[in-house]
Amino acid sequence: MSIKTVGVVGCGLMGSGIAEVVAKNGYSVIVREVNDEFLQKGLARIRASTQKAVDRNKITVEARDQLLARIRGTTHLEEFSECDYVVEAAIENLNLKKDIFERLDSITRPEVILASNTSSLSIAEMAAKTKKPDKVLGMHFFNPVPVMPLLEMVRSFMTSEATYETSRALGKALGKQIIVAKDYPGFIVNALLVPFQLDAIRFYENGMASKEDIDKGVRLGLNHPMGPLELCDFVGIDTVLFIADEVYNETKDPRYAAPPLLRRMVAAGYHGRKTGKGFYEYSK
Ligand code: 3HC
Repeated sequence: MSIKTVGVVGCGLMGSGIAEVVAKNGYSVIVREVNDEFLQKGLARIRASTQKAVDRNKITVEARDQLLARIRGTTHLEEFSECDYVVEAAIENLNLKKDIFERLDSITRPEVILASNTSSLSIAEMAAKTKKPDKVLGMHFFNPVPVMPLLEMVRSFMTSEATYETSRALGKALGKQIIVAKDYPGFIVNALLVPFQLDAIRFYENGMASKEDIDKGVRLGLNHPMGPLELCDFVGIDTVLFIADEVYNETKDPRYAAPPLLRRMVAAGYHGRKTGKGFYEYSK
C-alpha cells in the first residue's frame, strides 16, 4: 500500500512532534485537535521546533517551509477519510482512545492501518473497538520526537504480519531505529524506565540524597542526558504516575507501586515543566 497522507490524532507534545517528523519526510499530514485553541498551540509548537532546526542548521529555510506546508490542522476527525495511515496521539485515557479507534474505524478506508502512540495502554483493547483488529498496532515515539531516534513498535496478538511490515517500513522512512515489543504493560522502554524513576523518587522522599545529587549521579556516573528526577519533570510527573499506576494495576508488580510523594505532587499540580514546577522550578 502506498502511503501519501498520514493522519495524526492530537497535536500535543507527542502529536506535534510526530506530525513534524512525518511531514519532514515528505508525507502530507492532517493533524486533528479537539478545539481550535489546542490546535493553534500545537501548530505553534511545530513552528517553534522547526525554527530551532533552522537555527541549528539541521534543515534549510526552504525545507522548513515545505515541511510546514505539508501539515494541515483540523478539528474534524472526519477529514481522516483522506488518510492512508493514522497515528493516534491523544491523551493517555483508554476509554477516550477506544472511542477514537471506534470512530476512526468507520471514517477510514478498510485497508488503512490505525496505530497508537500509547506509552503503556493495551493495543488489543483499542483494536477490539474496530472491525480490523489485524490492522491495529502500537507506534510509540519518544519525546522530543524530532530528536529521539527510537520507535518502539508494539504488536498485539491480533496484529498481522502485513500491518507490522508496512508500519516498520514507515518507521524506517521516518528515519527512526526500531525495536519491537509485545502488547504487555509498559512495553520495553517504560517497563525499564519507570521502576528506575520510582526508585529515584523513593531515594529523595526518604532523604537518602538531595534531588540534585541523585540527578548528577546518573548524569555524570551513567552518562544519561538527564537525571531521573529531571526526566520526570520533562515527560510530566502526571504521565509518570499514570504509567506506574497502569502497569501496577495490570501486573501487581511492586516495582511499579507509586511512592506517596509522586501522587501528592500530581494532586498539587506539580506536573513538571509543563506546569512550571515539579522536582525543580521552571520560569516561563
Ligand atoms: N529537528 C531536528 N533537530 C532538532 C530539532 C528539530 N526540530 N530540535 C532540536 N534539534 C537538535 C538540536 O539541533 C541538537 O542537535 P546538535 O546537538 O547536533 O546541535 C539536538 O537536537 C538537541 O537539541 P537541544 O540542543 O535543543 O537540546 P539539548 O542538547 O539541551 O538536549 C534533550 C535536550 C534532547 C531533551 C536531552 O536533554 C535529552 O536527550 N534528554 C532525555 C530525553 C529522553 O529521555 N526522552 C525520552 C523520555 S521517555 C518518553 O518519551 C516515553 C513516553 O512514553 C513517556
